[in-house]
Amino acid sequence: MSTLRLAWRDGRTAAVEDPEGTVLDAAEAAGLALPFGCRTGACGTCTGRVLAGEVSHDRRPRALKRRHLDDGYVLLCIATPDGDCAVEVGAEVKRDLLANPFR
Ligand code: FES
Repeated sequence: MSTLRLAWRDGRTAAVEDPEGTVLDAAEAAGLALPFGCRTGACGTCTGRVLAGEVSHDRRPRALKRRHLDDGYVLLCIATPDGDCAVEVGAEVKRDLLANPFR
């Protein structure tokens, strides 16, 4: 039994009990729309940020730089929750990576 919590910057939150597959898959199965593009870890459209707990990338997250990973950013199309976790989601999260060219 585990819970995936999603948080948007506009204050919305949602919880998915016993998520299956990636964070993106689990959200969609629960009727929650998240941004995505390639679904292969290449484009970065699905970027989220881990707020609590852990997620594991199923394959190499090509769209993120090492420093982004170190800061907790993840690609939700290829990231699977490892037990209870909370993830910040929504298109604004990816903009963090673009706002500062030195990040
Ligand atoms: S949808 Fe392209 S990296 Fe996740």
